[in-house]
Amino acid sequence: MNKTLIVGNWKMHLDVQAASLLVHRLDKHIKPHREIEVVLAPSMLALQPVSLEIDRRKFRLASQDAYYKDEGAFTGEVSFTMLRELVHYSIIGHSERRIYFNESLDLIRDKVQAAVRNEIAPILCVGETKQERAAGETKRVIHDQLTTALSNLTADEVDNVVIAYEPVWAISTFEGEVAKPDEIKRVISLIRNNVAELYGDQASNNIRVLYGGSVSPDTASAYLSIDGCDGALVGGASLNYKQFSAIVDAAYRVNHQEN
Ligand code: PGA
Repeated sequence: MNKTLIVGNWKMHLDVQAASLLVHRLDKHIKPHREIEVVLAPSMLALQPVSLEIDRRKFRLASQDAYYKDEGAFTGEVSFTMLRELVHYSIIGHSERRIYFNESLDLIRDKVQAAVRNEIAPILCVGETKQERAAGETKRVIHDQLTTALSNLTADEVDNVVIAYEPVWAISTFEGEVAKPDEIKRVISLIRNNVAELYGDQASNNIRVLYGGSVSPDTASAYLSIDGCDGALVGGASLNYKQFSAIVDAAYRVNHQEN
């Protein structure tokens, strides 16, 4: 069975000092669990100091993005190559990157490939906007985002990819509507069907699929109980140690009810 993955995306919050304080508090409140992997995604600036502070039995690190070229004259960018000693994961194609920074399907494909080339597991975010959902386009949008992003990978490489289904309309900083678990369940199985069509049943079973969008201590159990959902990508609630630890506790309880 896959470990449950709980990822905290701190976005552009917390300077180095505040990040260190949060790590310290999380460390006090989160116990290591064999079947849960807790991943923190601080800002690029805080990654290095945080990497020196975390207890590696409890936490792993992710970057929130990176550039697809390994090295060169690309002012302002940080490559996956530079991050490979620091992080296990990289969030790629987050809706804020797609919407605010105009990241295209092709750029996201190149980033996924660059992460894999550098032995970093991509957490690929996919999800439809409110308008696309209203127009009944969810299936097509997810299919396009997945097919392009995974197109340069082999079936073996796809095994290490994590997909985060993040409907844009459910993210707290956009519309922030609380999504119903039934709807999430349908899209997660759509995602697995897409992966099966592209890479076969084994890849579709092995790939981890997370849910993200307004996950809180109140909603976490319902989302984490969804069939085929392997964890959560948490934004706002990951900045608060009480809320984030409560989400990790919820994951623990859900796993122990099931076993
Ligand atoms: P949220 O953000 O949990 O604050 O809705 C999720 C995300 O943007 O990854």
